Amino acid sequence: MCGIVGYVGNGETDAIDVLLNGLSSLEYRGYDSTGVAVANGALRVHKREGEFSALESTLPTESLRGDSIGIGHTRWSTHGPPSDANAHPHTDSENRVAVVHNGIVENYQALRDELTAEGVDFESETDTEVIPHLIGQALSAGAAPETAFRRAIDRLEGSYAVAAVFASSDEIYAARQESPLVLGIGDDGYYLASDAPAFIDYTDRVVYLEDGQFARLSPGEFVVTDANGTVVDTTVETLEWDAEDAGKSGYDHYMLKEINEQPTALRQCLRGRVDGLSSTVELAELADLEPSWPVQFVACGTSYHAAMFGAELLRERGVPAQTFLASEYDADRVLVGESTLVVGVTQSGETADTMRALREANRAGARTVAVTNTVGSSAARECDHALYIRAGPEICVAATKTFASQQVALTLLACRLSDASTHDVVQALRDVPDQVQHVLDTSRASEIAAEYVDSDAFFFIGRGHQYPVALEGALKMKEITYRHAEGFAAGELKHGPMALVSEETPVFAVVIGDGERAHKTVSNVKEVEARDAPVVAVTDGQTDVERYADRVLKVPASNDVAGAITANVQLQLVSYWVANELGRSIDKPRHLAKSVTVE
Ligand code: M6R
Repeated sequence: MCGIVGYVGNGETDAIDVLLNGLSSLEYRGYDSTGVAVANGALRVHKREGEFSALESTLPTESLRGDSIGIGHTRWSTHGPPSDANAHPHTDSENRVAVVHNGIVENYQALRDELTAEGVDFESETDTEVIPHLIGQALSAGAAPETAFRRAIDRLEGSYAVAAVFASSDEIYAARQESPLVLGIGDDGYYLASDAPAFIDYTDRVVYLEDGQFARLSPGEFVVTDANGTVVDTTVETLEWDAEDAGKSGYDHYMLKEINEQPTALRQCLRGRVDGLSSTVELAELADLEPSWPVQFVACGTSYHAAMFGAELLRERGVPAQTFLASEYDADRVLVGESTLVVGVTQSGETADTMRALREANRAGARTVAVTNTVGSSAARECDHALYIRAGPEICVAATKTFASQQVALTLLACRLSDASTHDVVQALRDVPDQVQHVLDTSRASEIAAEYVDSDAFFFIGRGHQYPVALEGALKMKEITYRHAEGFAAGELKHGPMALVSEETPVFAVVIGDGERAHKTVSNVKEVEARDAPVVAVTDGQTDVERYADRVLKVPASNDVAGAITANVQLQLVSYWVANELGRSIDKPRHLAKSVTVE
């Protein structure tokens, strides 16, 4: 996820030192390029693709000393691959303003077309670059910097945290809409960042901007205004974090932070892709994809479970679809040809097993789609099409928010590839971010984890859409707790695994809706209960499963798609709290790596 840092000082501190320190503190958010702009009557912009050290080693740092106004950015690609040109800051054509941005400008294409028609040349593929050009237009029309900035922001649709510096001004202008921005109040000036770690070494006094607010930072004061320009009162808070805690925004682990980021991640995944009024789905990245059958999914681990969920949705919508563990995929042995659509699901876009399978599919003449979190990744580059899940960087080895975002992205893909009605799915998806937030706010997973932490093993069952959720629940449990855990199709339990069930093996049963499958899973729960195993029902309460359960983890009533997302969040939390009780290395489990680049 992109990171912003900014500083306006009173002359005691060099801006470049604050910016470099801030960028290095923001590295934990994940990024693929960095840049700075320092202002002093003119703008000096330096930016580089790659690691922060690539920028730092080529920066003429000494010549930038003495200047006390600047902005910096770590970019995590969304529009256009990592490159020097796509790195922020971006400027207008006359180098009068430099801008950094987090978020997505939804209407950037329309704005870009409009500006291009007026003669503006773009230097990058980013959505962000429309902002400095809009500001530049207003400056050319005679507007003062602050007015020009506000006029540009008023034209934006989508999410943004934006900061701008001008050659002709000693102020920073900033605005926030659905993307975090925090001001730091120091003795030597004012700071600004997408996350407090960027300036925690200088000050712990902060003001959080709210959606729709603007800020003007100058050497002597900071002013926060609303969308109408009216000054608003602000509260200065004092943070009690040390620098290490700050990277996790106060959470004990990245895993818990990332679980809690899911409502935001899902909103980002849906943004601009569903129309609630017409109940339609539009995936701009796949505009020229001709639907073809059959669909074959290739993936590993958590992504494989997401792929199973996607395949089930497609079959439900009348499209033949199969799922393959990427490491088992062999294009010579499965029917793959020019009419096959092969979908690689991979958050990193670099998993060796998945890449090999996709390359085989490409060689066999299939059309390929990468469903990935990583712009510019091998999967995105080598497939015919890429659909981005937009979850933001995930630092914990255990995948959480990327799984939820894959579930949503694959639901959208299933809508795109079939002719079935999208009404119910779109309406359910629109509510999902709030429903996930509700689960996060009300979950009793930590109590259940404390109760069952010493169990011999943990079993997870579900049917249909909830079967991959059961598998994912078990994978999460085993990888971060090191305890035995298995997921089963609920109907399979009686065909063998039931022999393992005992008073010491809690069974987590995912029961969503009141369809035939849900009722059959309730029957399986009764079979487990009759053998004295503790049952934890993860349910939206549409069946009577709670009567047979020892404990209940509630999710909002919805349909199979939304329920599979919210139920999974409850299971993520159970695993997290069991691992926490056991004192495990949650963010970096033993023997595991975030990106597995060997077969
Ligand atoms: O980057 P990918 O999605 O291709 O990774 C595939 C698996 O290695 C990954 O999902 C793994 O199972 C998770 N980290 C487990 O939480």
